[in-house]
Amino acid sequence: MPIAPRIPQGPNEVVSLEGWLPDDEFPYGPIGAKAKRIFICPDRPPYGFLIGGHRYIFKEPQGTKAQQIWSEVIAYELARRIGVEVPPAFLATAPGNGSPGVLIEYFYGHRYDPEWRLVHGIERLQARGFETDLKRGSLVDNLNLCRAHKVPNAGGWWAETIIFDALIGNTDRHSENWGFLAERGANERPHFIMAPVFDNGTSLGYIIGEDRLAERSTPEGVARFIAKGHHHFGWTAGDKASGQHVELCRRFAREAKISVLMCDKLHISDSEIDALLADCVRTPFPIRFSEERALFVSRLLKMRRDALIEALGC
Ligand SMILES: Nc1ncnc2c1ncn2[C@@H]1O[C@H](COP(=O)(O)OP(=O)(O)O)[C@@H](O)[C@H]1O
Ligand SMILES: [Mg+2]
Repeated sequence: MPIAPRIPQGPNEVVSLEGWLPDDEFPYGPIGAKAKRIFICPDRPPYGFLIGGHRYIFKEPQGTKAQQIWSEVIAYELARRIGVEVPPAFLATAPGNGSPGVLIEYFYGHRYDPEWRLVHGIERLQARGFETDLKRGSLVDNLNLCRAHKVPNAGGWWAETIIFDALIGNTDRHSENWGFLAERGANERPHFIMAPVFDNGTSLGYIIGEDRLAERSTPEGVARFIAKGHHHFGWTAGDKASGQHVELCRRFAREAKISVLMCDKLHISDSEIDALLADCVRTPFPIRFSEERALFVSRLLKMRRDALIEALGC
């Protein structure tokens, strides 16, 4: 399905949730690692990138995880540019104390009919008797599960998703962080499509503190960091080495003969990356995105992109 062009959030457009109403049906968030709240955007949205009357998740990672707010927003901005379907994510501040968080657009209610519901990968893996391990899974199992549910273009979705995860260095695509949208028509078995790629904040080196950015930003430091980065799953379960970010993309491209589609997701230029990060540095937000972090993330993204281009022979 083509992705409609979206209005971007500008550097001076951090969303204040003052006056937004909590969702009466689900005021507190669904499953997941961190505290979250659900809000409804006012009917007259403060900015053009928001949808009046629509539901949003507000995630507030704190302490050493606070930089995940930026990772989630930058991941969305990159996804928009390379054409991977990710729920829109915006910088926002909480009502009352103005504490920082990331505001994520729900994927039902507008693009997908409210009759659709999200079914996490883990639910269907367990239902079908796959051995599941939240610490390390298997891409082959995930693909077989999707095919068993007759999901259209499952191979293409996984190709895009592992390229996107390798580009941003996401290490957390476990089976509660991907899933299906399921629709049950009258008297019919439910049918399944892949859900947009959600929960992308465990990425972009968020864990590296400000005081260590300079030493990690050298070419050797960045190369070491990339070499250590792994997808949450290997090619098969328990095969950790095959899950290295670039390695898994290479393996899948070869086995599925899908490198053209994967290469197509790597068209992002140095200047696009730098312009995006410069906007982050300029944005007044309680969690700063420093010049030093911009330099580190810029080198990380460019080196990851180039390593993937080389591995896939793009
Ligand atoms: N855009 C979205 N629309 C609808 N439900 C979502 C969306 N993003 C996440 N969810 C649901 O919320 C849960 C928690 O969100 P997630 O981003 O995974 O947070 P956490 O970092 O706490 O794991 C997900 O497992 C999924 O069920
Ligand atoms: Mg999650």
